[in-house]
Amino acid sequence: MPSFDLEPMVGAFGARVTGIDLSQPLDATALTALRAAWLEHLVLVFPDQILTPEQQIAAADQFGRPCENPFVAGLPDYPVVIPIVKEAHDRLSFGEGWHSDQTYEAVPPKGSLLYMKEAPPVGGDTLWLSMYAAYEALSPAMQALLEGVVANHYAGDAFGPKATFATRDADQHSMTIKVSEAADEAVRHPLVCRHPDTGRKLLFVNPVFTRDLEGFSAEESKALLSFLYSHQQDPRFATRHRWTVGDVVLWDNRCTQHSANNDYHGHRREAHRVTIAQEAAEWQRVWDGRPIAA
Ligand code: SIN
Repeated sequence: MPSFDLEPMVGAFGARVTGIDLSQPLDATALTALRAAWLEHLVLVFPDQILTPEQQIAAADQFGRPCENPFVAGLPDYPVVIPIVKEAHDRLSFGEGWHSDQTYEAVPPKGSLLYMKEAPPVGGDTLWLSMYAAYEALSPAMQALLEGVVANHYAGDAFGPKATFATRDADQHSMTIKVSEAADEAVRHPLVCRHPDTGRKLLFVNPVFTRDLEGFSAEESKALLSFLYSHQQDPRFATRHRWTVGDVVLWDNRCTQHSANNDYHGHRREAHRVTIAQEAAEWQRVWDGRPIAA
């Protein structure tokens, strides 16, 4: 029997996990059960944690390899730990807007482990959407239309030389962004992916990093993506977490999107994120046997 308890979160999915201390290595039974719970619930909340950066990295490493972000600076001594900070005077918030992390990479991450260090008294919640639920709610005719479509993803709108967030005045946000022309390079992903571990189908396009759809005119691509974004953001597919200092949330980046609410101006929020890599051979499985080359 696993040594922890699971309780459903508010909303369509997600679970709160108690009885786990992430500062210590998990025993084999607990780790196997938690990995299964992660695949089943997509978002796991672990309250009352106290973690050093080393302990947070070690906790994440039990679910996959921690990795750096090409455009966002990590802590000086721990480059895989990204401080996500909004100062009281900032107006912009990193993580606002529906997205899956780093889909601009040829092999996007498997997940993220976010540790809340300082939370506003109210606001700054994070919301997630299930891309399984969004796919499954489409009509068979729309599912058939989308099957085999390839989407181009890039980081240009977020971290490229013309990106609004990255290049705004320093007093608008407190993140250290490495603005680069490399952000304008696109990578290809199937629009309908099979989850590498569960085999379930899901929608893999998001409004922050998806640029366009191959094989469609610019107008068609825009209209189809606009429909999909509005469909994906249905509250029936959503869950939400109100943060308390010491909460750790582990989410599956492949089958969820998330957005951080920017509704707490005048208060400071600081969270540390460790991103967990997906191995290339595992990501290959999202193509479901189709070749990657155009
Ligand atoms: C993120 O997008 O990784 C940040 C989420 C958050 O700060 O709640």
